[in-house]
Amino acid sequence: MAFKIAVAMFKGGASKTTVSLALAEAAAEAGLDVEAIDTDPMGGLTRWSLGAEEESRPLRMAVTGMPSAKQLSDRIASATSHRDLVVIDGPPPGALAIAKAAIEAADYVLLACPARPADQDSVPATLAAVREAGKPFNGVLTCARKTLLTDTGRIALHGMGVPLLKTELDLSDLVADNYLHRSRGPLRRFGIDLFDEISTKIG
Ligand SMILES: Nc1ncnc2c1ncn2[C@@H]1O[C@H](COP(=O)(O)OP(=O)(O)OP(=O)(O)O)[C@@H](O)[C@H]1O
Ligand SMILES: [Mg+2]
Repeated sequence: MAFKIAVAMFKGGASKTTVSLALAEAAAEAGLDVEAIDTDPMGGLTRWSLGAEEESRPLRMAVTGMPSAKQLSDRIASATSHRDLVVIDGPPPGALAIAKAAIEAADYVLLACPARPADQDSVPATLAAVREAGKPFNGVLTCARKTLLTDTGRIALHGMGVPLLKTELDLSDLVADNYLHRSRGPLRRFGIDLFDEISTKIG
């Protein structure tokens, strides 16, 4: 039976897809059989996977596109029967039903939390959905910088009741540059650290 992790945030551009990719790739590098489920109707993760295939360096995990809430639960049920880990990349805003279905289906939820306080407006609603579903969760800080604003963002998330992981995703062009490629450089390192930290937490 696969363990299921949903990467969630009811806000566009919170780094859900980037975090999902890094986590799934790291788990696959660690030897797990991983499936990533792309719930974005625009298929961002699916395109990423196709780009990597075209380069003859395919992603280390399978990617399935599944942009409907009903199909999502069917797909997850079938994936869990033969995978070790399923990572569900939550959709962009405007697809609330599937965003909630992804949380409902998960054993553990990772909240992709942008570091800047001005980008954290969707954290309370996402947190409420995760709490309502009764799922264990942590926050992962994304687009982090060594600035006072990032420190303020961490404090604000703490105030909202988000237990942040130690692993953070730094804001860097080297991260964005991974699009359509296997994870490498700082994104690969982030994924490995994230997978290690989550594995320790959930045992
Ligand atoms: N740490 C980072 N440093 C630099 N660029 C980043 C970082 N994280 C994400 N990005 C870039 O920001 C954009 C949005 O990231 P991503 O697609 O992962 O967000 P998302 O939450 O999945 O968005 P959506 O809600 O549209 O699905 C992408 O262009 C991505 O490359
Ligand atoms: Mg996305």
